[in-house]
Amino acid sequence: MAPSNESHKTFATVGIVVTLTLYLIRRRFRGATCKSLALMQGKTVIITGANTGIGRETALSLAVREARVILACRDVQKGENAAKYIRKNTPDGEVVVKKLDLASMKSIREFAEDIIKAEKRLDVLINNAGIFQPPLQHTEDGFELQFGVNHLGHFLLTNLLLDSLKQTEMSRIVIVSSSLHKRGRINFDDLNSEKHYHKGEAYNNSKLANVMFARELHRRLAGSNVSVYCLHPGVVNTNLGRYFPWWLHIIFTPLKWLFFKTATQGAQTTIQCAVAGELTGVSGHYYGNCKEEPWDKAALDDDAAKKLWEVSEQMTKL
Ligand SMILES: NC(=O)c1ccc[n+]([C@@H]2O[C@H](COP(=O)([O-])OP(=O)(O)OC[C@H]3O[C@@H](n4cnc5c(N)ncnc54)[C@H](OP(=O)(O)O)[C@@H]3O)[C@@H](O)[C@H]2O)c1
Repeated sequence: MAPSNESHKTFATVGIVVTLTLYLIRRRFRGATCKSLALMQGKTVIITGANTGIGRETALSLAVREARVILACRDVQKGENAAKYIRKNTPDGEVVVKKLDLASMKSIREFAEDIIKAEKRLDVLINNAGIFQPPLQHTEDGFELQFGVNHLGHFLLTNLLLDSLKQTEMSRIVIVSSSLHKRGRINFDDLNSEKHYHKGEAYNNSKLANVMFARELHRRLAGSNVSVYCLHPGVVNTNLGRYFPWWLHIIFTPLKWLFFKTATQGAQTTIQCAVAGELTGVSGHYYGNCKEEPWDKAALDDDAAKKLWEVSEQMTKL
């Protein structure tokens, strides 16, 4: 028996309602867009981990704004592929790839030396690279990988580049943390996870270390021309979950489509902190969805932040 006109109508109505609901859910989760039209002609920006995800989309937006964008990547070939993608999408800006492995203090020092020698100015440093919940692994210098890359690597890099940032008028340091820092804890008795390793806890702790670093850096730079911005990008569909098992990726695929930001959407708060004119000189705040958010109480332990700085200095032999 052929379906009646009535069942066609019901089918069409259900289809429209479902499509509209999915569209509204996706819209709800895409987050805010950076509204700033600021150009960055003559400005130089470094973005760590810029070969993919949030870093690559940030680099594209800054190239569109005519910046000289240095993609600081551990795999130069992946960096060149990202540079090709950016050049294909915009003829503007100047895109340069340089080798930086944040899991190696030697690599960080070589990178910083090269920047100090080769670059006349450094307007924005974006500490974006990150690693999420790998099984227990160590950096070249023996640090637990997440603490080593997410915190210590960026701590050393930033400090080595501070003079260049100070020599450039109104420069910025943008630190990409995560809202998961709210579940973190800085355990000074076992910073390097030698007694106990839990991959989720180690990520949260490394992101809390990012936040404490941002606050202490801001305190130390008070009265200087360098401003510090800390942010969480939201939940973003990138390669960050690369250590999840394959079956979890399959379960997550429809959820990612519905509830996760795209990498372009996830890059918006970073872009806002890097370029927005109204944020010039506005240092020491935390951002999400392109606007200021309050620091979580986990971030407010300034004594722990000072101690973490001192311990990080010793660990990185700064
Ligand atoms: N995605 C999210 O939902 C989310 C949420 C909150 C916070 N975040 C933060 O956002 C930042 C960017 O993450 P994403 O989502 O764009 O992830 P992603 O797609 O995995 O990108 C991470 C980048 O970091 C690089 N990286 C990893 N280890 C490195 C090392 N040792 N040296 C240099 N670079 C290294 C990666 O290089 P390879 O490609 O060579 O591995 C990659 O370019 C991270 O700090 C992350 O913690 C992301």
